[in-house]
Amino acid sequence: MRILAFICLLFPLIVAAADLTKAQRSAIEERIKPFSEVCVAGDSSCESGGPQVASAEALPGEAKYAACGACHGAQGQGGIGPMLAGQTVDYIMGRLNAYRAGEQVGAQSSLMWAQAAGLSDIDIKDLSEYIDTL
Ligand code: HEC
Repeated sequence: MRILAFICLLFPLIVAAADLTKAQRSAIEERIKPFSEVCVAGDSSCESGGPQVASAEALPGEAKYAACGACHGAQGQGGIGPMLAGQTVDYIMGRLNAYRAGEQVGAQSSLMWAQAAGLSDIDIKDLSEYIDTL
């Protein structure tokens, strides 16, 4: 009988506690819910206008640039060849297409003819997109 009385006394408390927990949980969920969608840079399907994070995948041009870094610097800062950092995709693509076609750009273009001769259209696009990030 005592136990029953105890349970009867306790039951509303348990129910109240459960309710409180539910209320607390939704309050916490409200507080931690993302304020907006985070987009990966370059993902056109993401339209939230929220903050952008850089894609974790390395650009394909990064590996292709390894051979160029010897003359243009690992960060495109220049060396034997001119500085490339800060140039736009269009500018780099234009130059590489010119060198591949054997056109004279500067006094040392012959050095670049050999470099550009083996590049495919995709290589030129990839390299230009990577150099644009330097
Ligand atoms: C042997 C050294 C050397 C290597 C390797 C080399 N370059 Fe060059 N690059 C040069 C030189 C020298 C010039 C200047 C050429 C001129 O006078 O027209 C140049 C010019 C350029 C230009 C034009 C810059 C400007 O502002 O006019 C671009 C773009 C370029 N290189 C990209 C590349 C890429 C991409 C690679 C790798 C595939 C590469 N280069 C590899 C030496 C090099």
